[in-house]
Amino acid sequence: MKALVLSGGAGTRLRPFSHSMPKQLIPIANRPVLEHVLNGVRDLGITEVGVIVGDRSAQIVAAIGDGSRLGLDVTYIHQEEPRGLAHCVVLAREFLGDDDFVMYLGDNMLPDGVTDIAQDFLDHRPAAQVVVHKVADPRSFGVAELDPEGRIERLVEKPREPRSDLALIGVYFFTPAIHEAVAAISPSARGELEITDAIQWLVTEGVQVSASVYGGYWKDTGKVDDVLECNNKLLEGLVSSVEGEVDAASELVGPVVVEKGARVVASRIVGPVIVGAGTTVEHSHVGPNTSIGDNCVLRRTYMDSSIALEGAQVTDVRGLHGSLIGRNSCVGPAAAPSSHHRLVVGDHTRIEVAA
Ligand code: DAU
Repeated sequence: MKALVLSGGAGTRLRPFSHSMPKQLIPIANRPVLEHVLNGVRDLGITEVGVIVGDRSAQIVAAIGDGSRLGLDVTYIHQEEPRGLAHCVVLAREFLGDDDFVMYLGDNMLPDGVTDIAQDFLDHRPAAQVVVHKVADPRSFGVAELDPEGRIERLVEKPREPRSDLALIGVYFFTPAIHEAVAAISPSARGELEITDAIQWLVTEGVQVSASVYGGYWKDTGKVDDVLECNNKLLEGLVSSVEGEVDAASELVGPVVVEKGARVVASRIVGPVIVGAGTTVEHSHVGPNTSIGDNCVLRRTYMDSSIALEGAQVTDVRGLHGSLIGRNSCVGPAAAPSSHHRLVVGDHTRIEVAA
């Protein structure tokens, strides 16, 4: 079996980050979402991976390279414009050949893995097998309607009035039967070749399409709040390790990772927290549920449930909560006093807040 990982697209819901970086490179627990996705693919025993990339391909290639660091053999497939998930299958035809494959959306996190579902697909080999998950509001997803026996009756992409609460999540298993389906459909109202329509085409043709209800944790990281929630989830399993320096005036409580070259000075860190390589934390309180990227500086700052990307600097800010701070951003002191801050700061942005 091969894998096709979709890492193109526009990422408009993750602005301002997506102005300067592909959304699949947003770090969760200090690793890009795409790296978590590729690890999930490797856990299925797959090594041959096609990665669809768009106009931000250079950053993705710089982060993932040829895949060998992750034990994978990665082939990049360029998509000029985001013309839909089924369009990605069309583009990957030559790479996929006549092999079965798993298609994995590059912004979907499934830290509990999908090994059981992959085995079920291999054992029964339906033309396609989708994975669904109960959600409170399915309107922003593909929605599956199942009959009482759990067979798919209908699939609809982002319906205004959903007739079921089962969202299609970002992993699909396909036999080569999908190639005829993606060739048969037309673009949707939003101008995209929808994979949901291609699978519906298979259902209409009467071939076997299965659905597995996913019981594990799943998050589409397309929005800032989802990124933060997913970061909390991933940090739950953190195991302490200190490779950097922690001075005698500092206290680490609970699971805390201090990476190589990082310095913690006169600070209290309450895990789960990761302090990235080369980062300095001075006279600060950090955590819980916080990931600080590489080469950041935190001075006299209180921060929890947040993510700072590489090179961010935060000085004299207390009460930072639920914040996502972009690469090389500076957040510094301002005049008017206030007790609460919530920041969603884009790359290279400078924000002044109350001291
Ligand atoms: O997250 C699950 C949902 O993903 C499903 O419920 C929907 O049925 C499915 O259509 C998809 O909806 P989204 O609107 O969330 O898809 P998005 O545009 O975010 O694209 C998903 C991934 O595929 C993302 O990593 C970007 C990539 N992509 C997207 C398009 C449209 C491409 O590589 N090329 C594309 O043309």
